[in-house]
Amino acid sequence: MENKSNTQLLMFGPKGLIESGQRSSTVADNCLTKDPMFQKLRQYHDECANTMVMNDMFDNDPKRFEKFHLKLSTPYYGFLLFDYSKNLIDDTIMKGLLELAQSRGVESMRDRMFMGEKINFTENRAVLHIALRNRSNRPIMVDGQNVMIDVNRVLNKMQEFSQQIIDGVWTGYSGKKITDIVNIGIGGSDLGPVMVTEALKHYQKGPNVHFVSNIDGTHLHETLKKLNPETTLFIIASKTFTTQETITNAESARDWFLKHAHDKSHVAKHFVALSTNKEKVTEFGIDSNSMFEFWDWVGGRYSLWSAIGLSICLFIGFDQFEQLLEGAHFIDEHFRRAPLAQNLPVLMALLGVWYINFYDAETQAILPYDQYLHRFAAYFQQGDMESNGKYVTRSGQTVNYRTGPIVWGEPGTNGQHAFYQLIHQGTRLIPCDFIAPIKTLNPIRGGLHHTILLANYLAQTEALMRGKSSEQAEKELRDQGKNDEEIKKILPHKIFEGNRPTNSFLLDVISPFNLGALIASYEHKIFVQGVIWDINSYDQWGVELGKQLAKTIEKELQSKDLLIDTHDCSTNALINMIKNIDNQS
Ligand code: F6P
Repeated sequence: MENKSNTQLLMFGPKGLIESGQRSSTVADNCLTKDPMFQKLRQYHDECANTMVMNDMFDNDPKRFEKFHLKLSTPYYGFLLFDYSKNLIDDTIMKGLLELAQSRGVESMRDRMFMGEKINFTENRAVLHIALRNRSNRPIMVDGQNVMIDVNRVLNKMQEFSQQIIDGVWTGYSGKKITDIVNIGIGGSDLGPVMVTEALKHYQKGPNVHFVSNIDGTHLHETLKKLNPETTLFIIASKTFTTQETITNAESARDWFLKHAHDKSHVAKHFVALSTNKEKVTEFGIDSNSMFEFWDWVGGRYSLWSAIGLSICLFIGFDQFEQLLEGAHFIDEHFRRAPLAQNLPVLMALLGVWYINFYDAETQAILPYDQYLHRFAAYFQQGDMESNGKYVTRSGQTVNYRTGPIVWGEPGTNGQHAFYQLIHQGTRLIPCDFIAPIKTLNPIRGGLHHTILLANYLAQTEALMRGKSSEQAEKELRDQGKNDEEIKKILPHKIFEGNRPTNSFLLDVISPFNLGALIASYEHKIFVQGVIWDINSYDQWGVELGKQLAKTIEKELQSKDLLIDTHDCSTNALINMIKNIDNQS
């Protein structure tokens, strides 16, 4: 690749990143846009995309659902159904996308991941969240060691500990049963446990759980004010045990605890650590016996299956935590063995690539029709965006195509009354994932609430696909008694173009097993897309610069002196404004 400077390639605006790169001929030989399969798809897209109408495709093919859906029957008589028929696809496109996956080496990279190869090459690490839920116990080797021995050892320790807490065998310093758990962690050491404990609230067996992540003292304050130190257990969750937010929150929690408990020896009964860094844990004052270990081959955003899931275990009990692992393992095995054309994560990934790289879609909405899944989209904001928000390929070149989407979403039907207007009638193409369980865990009024919820789940994807034509809209207005003049004024606003793509996931019920399977499906989708885009999905250097600068600014904020030309004039002015107010108070 010709050496263009980043500033040249990364200018945003009308001639931005994609525009300037997409038509460039100075790209690496293995570049996605040079791949013959990609070029074939590009040609097909340019020739057919504008004429592809989902309504017609459904009308012409009554078997379209049969063709474009996948139903995975799970053990325990459950299932996970993925209907992708309401997409801008046909047989040629699906064939082309599957060939693209093959040509980009998805299968070989997948096998390398499962074999424990160090595919996270910028950190020289294996990527083995699949080992954490490897229920088959098949040996997985890293540096000549079978990691399953350590995985099983820590799982046993988690089982023993959670049983002791749930049974009240492990008590607080005054002999009282632990009633509340506070997990202090951020990013991957927070989002997974938050999402899963919310999703599995129905299955609670143990103490209540609370999560403190934000360095904003308000988060800790508002959490602690409801709690009794005698019956509260703190879990300090940090892979590195150096994350400023977590360590500061943990120290403040310890101060709060000691203000009540007075005796430092009581800390042992109330603080445990989840980490890869024994030295730092001990330095903090937590006994290494109270540390639940994990390893550098567990990425933070893929760590809920590891010791980081301790709060989940304490909340739902170890047996149900195991079910979560089982569900993920079920998908791991499916991902490893199923042919690409029947492979759920592969299909999810390819549909995303179709919209991101051929339609320039910028975002991906995740819309669960289940209140229990209200943090699901937030969880995959980190999962997806920290993994695939990269512009440099594995060989260090700047991409000339889009990579990871902006992930967002809220539970239906709340979203319908907030942002769906833009999805239906806005100017952007927004691929949406709709997720719903058939059975509710709370059948209030004979299941009436759930029937209404499901009706909306179904209606939205139908509406986005079908739209409403000018003729239909006009007829409706006439039926309402509107005259010609009124119709002329209102009609354009009442038309829905439709043809907007959606996937529908249908589960039998929200259970630990099904949730594990759903999460793992998205994890592997991210993996497949990363391979197609030729990026390393498992590092996160992009979060470092801000952290570095914050350290310098923190010191500047602590000194009384005003800044003159330390930063740019904007940053200087803001810092001085804060200092001026601080100096006055
Ligand atoms: O902000 C980046 C990050 O490193 C995430 O990847 C990670 O999940 C989070 O910080 C927390 O890191 P740790 O578990 O080491 O405290």
